[in-house]
Amino acid sequence: MSSGIGNFTRRMMTMPPVETTKTPTYNPGLEGVLAGESALCQVDEGEAGLRYRGYAITDLADKSTFEEVAYLLLFGRLPARKELEEFSTQLTANWTLPGPVESFVGVVPPKVHPMDILRTGASLLGMTDPDSADNSHEANLRKSVRLLAQVPLMITTSYRFANAKRHLLPRKDLTFTENLLYLLTDRHGDRATEAMARVLDVSLILYAEHEFNASTFAARVTASTMTDLHSAITAAVGTLKGPLHGGANEAVAAMFLEIQTPDRAEEWVKNALAAKQRVMGFGHRVLKQGDARSAIVQRQAQELSGICSNPRWYEIATIIDRVMHQEKGLYPNLDFYTAVAYLLMGIPRQLYTPLFVCSRMAGWCAHVIEQQDHNRLISPRARYTGPPPRAYVPIDRRT
Ligand SMILES: CC(C)(COP(=O)(O)OP(=O)(O)OC[C@H]1O[C@@H](n2cnc3c(N)ncnc32)[C@H](O)[C@@H]1OP(=O)(O)O)[C@@H](O)C(=O)NCCC(=O)NCCS
Repeated sequence: MSSGIGNFTRRMMTMPPVETTKTPTYNPGLEGVLAGESALCQVDEGEAGLRYRGYAITDLADKSTFEEVAYLLLFGRLPARKELEEFSTQLTANWTLPGPVESFVGVVPPKVHPMDILRTGASLLGMTDPDSADNSHEANLRKSVRLLAQVPLMITTSYRFANAKRHLLPRKDLTFTENLLYLLTDRHGDRATEAMARVLDVSLILYAEHEFNASTFAARVTASTMTDLHSAITAAVGTLKGPLHGGANEAVAAMFLEIQTPDRAEEWVKNALAAKQRVMGFGHRVLKQGDARSAIVQRQAQELSGICSNPRWYEIATIIDRVMHQEKGLYPNLDFYTAVAYLLMGIPRQLYTPLFVCSRMAGWCAHVIEQQDHNRLISPRARYTGPPPRAYVPIDRRT
């Protein structure tokens, strides 16, 4: 017969007192906390800035393509020529959307932000993926390759549909990035477009991976429950959308457009700082001494300004850069000069963060695979700040 004491209570009564001195340390925003291990990206405070699987980002931006970098992140090494060709063929073969995803893209109201389309779309792609329930290493790689191809197509298809632009199909004679630019801007083949495609490709290389940033961490937390890859990617897309993270590049362009001319830039920034506003595209949680990626994309943006005979956005940017350093000692991050380059390419502003998704997909997927290959559930503690223990109040005695 039951004594009225549950098993849990009986166990607690016989247990030694709880050790209270081992309270974990608390760092708001997990700043400076090592929350896991990864072989994907090293933050190198020296000249390299970042390294992907050991390779300096400066070398990758100079000498490789986004497709090579995506392969490096997913498969662990730079591809040999034949491997790269096969990878590109696989990507091209997957430049297609499953029927339900195409139908979804076709019914989204035109005003919906493309990041919201992507968040729902990533989830829908999971429902239609033939490997959706398989979390093996090989299946995760297959799903990653599909996502790398499907996401750009989802962005370009929904954009063209919402803006009543004629339907375009990816071209077999164009690279991944040339196709992306072509489907966004209808451009290919001329000298300026070739230069733009190279700058876009460099920006995709630079955006592809960055250790335990917020969206990647969200993906890893989700993946650590051993749920499916698409669930982790859906969480990552929603996280990236925020203006303190991936949404910053769009906000930078909005700022340039508001400033309009270089002669208004200095006053605009000083007013923003006086009003205690954050100037988008500056500062970084980790890279406090400057972001090596910003210097690379700045050079690219400057060259592109010359090729396009349009120095306005670059001039505005350099003035803001100078004033922010003078006034706050802050350096631009990757989003800042990328916005100059994307404005010159004529890419619509609301597509900047989705382009970040196209690229970071490689890093996210590589992290999900790494997490699930060596999994330990990510489940930290919280410091309690609520009321002290108190007696329960029956409902008829509550005021
Ligand atoms: C990226 C970011 C969130 C990092 O923030 P963080 O490490 O938490 O740094 P903090 O928010 O603690 O900022 C430290 C100080 O710099 C200031 N600061 C940081 N970024 C700033 C910015 N972009 N504009 C103006 N001031 C900024 C803060 O106001 C704070 O000043 P205070 O000490 O006088 O209060 C932050 O720099 C930011 O909001 N940047 C703008 C958004 C952006 O570009 N995001 C893309 C990141 S790659």
